[in-house]
Amino acid sequence: MLNIALVAGSGRSNSQSGKVARFIRQRLIRLEHSTEAHSSLIDLGLDPLPLWPAEDAGLWEQYRTQLQAADALVIVAPEWNGMACPAIKNFFIYASKAELAHKPALLVGVSAGVGGAYPISELRASSYKNCRLCYLPEHLIVRRVEQVLNGPEAANEDDQRLHARLDYDLDILLKYAKALQPVRESIDMGNPAFANGM
Ligand SMILES: Cc1cc2nc3c(=O)[nH]c(=O)nc-3n(C[C@H](O)[C@H](O)[C@H](O)COP(=O)(O)O)c2cc1C
Repeated sequence: MLNIALVAGSGRSNSQSGKVARFIRQRLIRLEHSTEAHSSLIDLGLDPLPLWPAEDAGLWEQYRTQLQAADALVIVAPEWNGMACPAIKNFFIYASKAELAHKPALLVGVSAGVGGAYPISELRASSYKNCRLCYLPEHLIVRRVEQVLNGPEAANEDDQRLHARLDYDLDILLKYAKALQPVRESIDMGNPAFANGM
């Protein structure tokens, strides 16, 4: 079975992004795409990484192991002041090719209102260059987040639409994950001349 790592990219300890990441993990399990053992969650609000550079990298060693085991990722990014939250940008300073190269990732933008697109476009523009994470062309935007994804059954029409879209996106993510496994095996990751992207 494929292994999925989910990253909740809010710096707040009781974040809606954490809620969304947990919902998606449970949905993966319910759809039998994954299990507790074949998925892992990194909540950067509950268990933060120190702001880079730091003398002690804190939980990074643990996170690195989780990410290395993953075949696919879900990156949940809240919109803060029209930007991606600093916690997820800091995460991408730590992350490198060794953990993430050529692994597919579903981007999930989160907004309390009708935003949520800015963190998607920001992370698509900057975040993947050195770590070579492959964002799917498909993404999810969770608007009015407090009203949706609060339980396994959809609570309203917006929630219903979002559940259907999430299932569609997760199916695509799993297909990419399977397809990219042999691609990763066939790529020379060790060439020191190309350690960073251009
Ligand atoms: C500092 C800060 C700035 C915010 N700015 C925006 C924003 O620009 N656009 C938006 O849609 N929501 C904004 N929000 C609200 C978030 O969308 C909301 O907190 C949501 O729950 C996602 O963040 P969370 O995962 O930290 O809970 C902001 C929240 C904080 C804490």
